[in-house]
This record gives sequence, structure tokens and C-alpha cells, in this order.
Amino acid sequence: MYINFWYPVCLSNEINEGPKKATILGLDFVAYRDHEGAAHCLSNVCVHRGGSLANGICHDDGTIACPYHGWRFDGSGKCQKIPSLGPGSKIPKRAKVDSYPVQEKYGIVFAFLGDQPEKERPKLYEIEEFNTEGWRSNDPKIIDIDYNYERSIENGLDPAHNEFVHPTHGFSGAKNDYKVNPTQITKVDRGADFEQLFDAAPPLDEETYGETARKSEGELTVWGGYRGPNTLITLIHTKKETNWFHQYFFEQPINEFKTKIFFISMRNWLLDEKMDDMIMERNMAVANQDIALLTELRPALTPPTLTKEIFVPADLIIGEYRSSLDEFTKKGFKIDTQKVKETQHQTAYAIPSPARKKEKSWVLDPVPLIKE
Ligand code: FES
Ligand SMILES: [Fe+2]
Repeated sequence: MYINFWYPVCLSNEINEGPKKATILGLDFVAYRDHEGAAHCLSNVCVHRGGSLANGICHDDGTIACPYHGWRFDGSGKCQKIPSLGPGSKIPKRAKVDSYPVQEKYGIVFAFLGDQPEKERPKLYEIEEFNTEGWRSNDPKIIDIDYNYERSIENGLDPAHNEFVHPTHGFSGAKNDYKVNPTQITKVDRGADFEQLFDAAPPLDEETYGETARKSEGELTVWGGYRGPNTLITLIHTKKETNWFHQYFFEQPINEFKTKIFFISMRNWLLDEKMDDMIMERNMAVANQDIALLTELRPALTPPTLTKEIFVPADLIIGEYRSSLDEFTKKGFKIDTQKVKETQHQTAYAIPSPARKKEKSWVLDPVPLIKE
């Protein structure tokens, strides 16, 4: 798991009534909306005696109050009030928690979990067709899975599994001339894009598939890619200018073994709102085929070296993703989860926020990172 990327924290509407706790990269965060409607994301551990801020309440001065002794922290993480000191008292300099840059987009609250200054940060992924004419998106769908997010991203990139895992995408290896076409890869900042031609997707009968039925075998081109360790893009195009699906997966690693996927499904046909449920049902039927399979993968985490698996040409984009992860490790972004596990009962850690580059005097230790 890596710091210095954008992670989904919660849905926008989950903080309309009060704060919400989220566990991301193995650590706890609180998201809340201030009196003016702006969303914030703070480290959840109160620096007084370790209270969980998410169990506190939001005040109309823009602060969130710890439930234990009522210390109030503003959106920048600074403590503004220590009730036990009495009115007008000076607040100690160290009374602050980490606060992370936040963006709300697509109905999701995203936070940049890391300490990079703004000019070094990657951009939050931009869905260009979102809210544009001729496209419709479902409400964001949360998918909870009991496996590692890297395994999940790799599955979404993998062009060779559709034939065997998804009956609506392939012929289960029954065709003698089946092979995976070469993958075209383009590297981009902290990620890669791919283009992949699928020769034939099976016809889909009208009785079961209604308006999404396919009368004959169809050629599909899939564009896609990844950004950072946790954002997956899948663009499925028919030869026509329509009948396209664009899918975006913003993954929240809760820890190494649990993931919450924030899924945005877009389409440029069947634009009636009434089709939303049917389309999500179809999406989830496919997703559940992947989930059943991925829950059983061993080892649970992606192996540390490529020699513990076999790579063939159809795995090219997965190899590219692994090399990106290596790059992030070399940059010093990888969390030392072993060290966290050994010390977590004595030490509450925080992901270092951008303010740590400018200010000293932090109470919580920064999460240990792997040094290469
Ligand atoms: S633990 Fe938060 S105010 Fe005391
Ligand atoms: Fe799949």
C-alpha cells in the first residue's frame, strides 16, 4: 500500500448528517462537512488521549469535537478549543492532527493521502464525459471485497480472463482459433493506458438480455489503464459510435486484505434513468464472477518478485502495473506494513500530510515506509 495518491474516502452523501470514519491503508480517517458545506478529511486519532474523532460532533464554527474531552479541531487539523482550559486559553502548538487535501467529484469524497506539495501531486482522475450530453452515469456503487486491491486492479487489466470467467464475454476456450491479441501500451504519468481488441464476444439472447442483447458475435475494442496503484479505467467500445460502456473503479484499500471499490458506470446508450438498475445488475453479475474467483487467489498479496509467478505476453499490462508499483516503492511511498503490525498496539500512526513538510511538532508518528 502506497502513500501520495488520491483515495476515495466515502460517498458525498454519507457526510451530510455527520462525520464518517473510514479505514484506508490500514489507518483511520474521519471525513466531515463543515458549516459551510466543505468536506474535510483528518487523521481520526485525537492527539490528546487518542479518542476517535469520527464519534464526535460537528459544530457550526467549522470544527469537529472529540467525543472524549471535547477538543475541537478545524478543517486544517488545528485545535481551536480545549474546553478544560476555560475560555480564551492558549492552545499548545502540538494540538493538531493531519489534514489531507480533499476533492469531491462524481458523488465521492476523495482525499490525497500523503505529504507531497501541490505541484508534485498527481491529478485526481478526470472522467471527461461525466455530466456531458449523450452520456449517463449510475450513482456511484460501492463494492466491498475481501481481497487485496492490487489483485483487484490486475484482474480489471487482465485481457485473458474474460474468455474463461465471464460467459457473456467469451466462449470458455471452446473455439480452436482463440488467442489473445497483442496489447498496445502507452505509459502516462504514474500509470499506463492500453488498447486491446477482442475478436468475438458471444451473441446474447433477447429473452435474458433485453435491450442489451447482441444478435451476433461482436468485435469489441477495450481501452483502459490504471493511474497510481488504485484507479482502474475500462472503456468498452463496439464498432458503432454508440453502445459504449465506460467504467471507472476508484479503489480504497481498507487494509491489505479488504477493499472498498467506488464504481462509476457510464454509457452512451440506454440513456433513460429507468435503465440504471438493470445496467448495474448486469455489471454486478459480471463483477461477482470475478469476486468469487479472486477471493481464492493465493498468495493473498501480489508476490514480491516476478519469479514466483509466470508471465506470458497476455500479461503485459499486468507486468507494466507491477513495474509502476516498483517505481512507487523506489520513491519511498510504500508503507512498511510489517513494521506497522509489530508496533500498532503501542503506536498510533498517521499518514504524513502536506503540512508536515512545513511545520514541526506532530504528536503521532508518521507511518513507517519502506526504504530501498
Ligand atoms: S481524547 Fe480527544 S479530547 Fe481527550
Ligand atoms: Fe473480470
